[in-house]
Amino acid sequence: MKFAILTGGGDSPGMNAYIRSVVRSALNFKPSTAVWGIIDGWRGLIDNNFRKLDKRNTAGIAHRGGTILGTLRVPELKDDKDMQEAMAINLHDNLVDYLFIIGGNGSLKAAQVLNNIITEKELLTKILFAPGSIDNDVCNNYGFSIGFYSAIDKSLEMLEWIRDTASAHRRVYIIESMGRDSGYLAFYAGIATGAEYIIRPGENVDFERLATIIDERDRDTRIIVSEGYNKNVTEITNILTEIFKQRDIKHEIRHVDMGYFQRGGTAVVKDILLASWLGFCMVNDAFKKTGSAFYTAYNVGQKPKVLSIDEAADDNRSTHLQIPDEIIDFALALR
Ligand code: F6P
Repeated sequence: MKFAILTGGGDSPGMNAYIRSVVRSALNFKPSTAVWGIIDGWRGLIDNNFRKLDKRNTAGIAHRGGTILGTLRVPELKDDKDMQEAMAINLHDNLVDYLFIIGGNGSLKAAQVLNNIITEKELLTKILFAPGSIDNDVCNNYGFSIGFYSAIDKSLEMLEWIRDTASAHRRVYIIESMGRDSGYLAFYAGIATGAEYIIRPGENVDFERLATIIDERDRDTRIIVSEGYNKNVTEITNILTEIFKQRDIKHEIRHVDMGYFQRGGTAVVKDILLASWLGFCMVNDAFKKTGSAFYTAYNVGQKPKVLSIDEAADDNRSTHLQIPDEIIDFALALR
């Protein structure tokens, strides 16, 4: 059999563990398997850019952030039918039986398009997809996306550093978090550190109330703003500064962006093990000639939840773009 691996979208810690797991599981079960890595993600699949993977060139990478295969953004892929077809044809012509993808929401949508072309044209390749994104925005009903916990871990460390200065200077820090349109990263990091307030995408913020919350605090107030919220930190600062002036609230405001620091660095054990577990399960199923599918799991050793790619790609069937009410209550209770 011939396998290919693609890491798509924003890199996330755990992608390397997934690559290593697919390669090792395949070669240890069936040494005759050929495993190829696609260079630079979707760009490499369009350009037919593959390199052979083996035990040696995937050694010692499981804990490392980023992806050894690379991942380039290809925004035009969404609408470019020629590019979409080229990918399907490249896989078929290279006699790839299974394409293993790890990526986020955008990659899942691209996988869906690719899978439809393959089905329509009756081409060879099947697609197996694992969720990998710091945003946790990939069909999260049955498991978190790989990299999410690593990103919370990094965020927690940064938020605790900020606490020191916020406390020493009795300042308010407005802290930006990545997460695209999903507030999960900001929320879970905020809960873990005990932030005073977490602003989520689409929220209608009551700034007068927020000013009261800040005023009631003595020191170290940290407000986390999720990417996807419709005001930037300067606008938020200006609104709060104006209210502070009117109400004679004395705190200074500063801001900081956690951004790309949340995405890099060593993966946490949970992500390494979950990525490895999913890779192992998917390879096992590929050897049993399973159909194209999306795999996710909460825990290592727990049978992964397997969905069709169409089901998983349907944003309305999952909570990944809408923080559930009980999580909001949870955050409020822990402030
Ligand atoms: O999907 C991961 C992510 O880091 C998002 O949180 C963020 O919106 C985006 O990628 C940033 O992408 P880029 O690296 O292309 O600027």
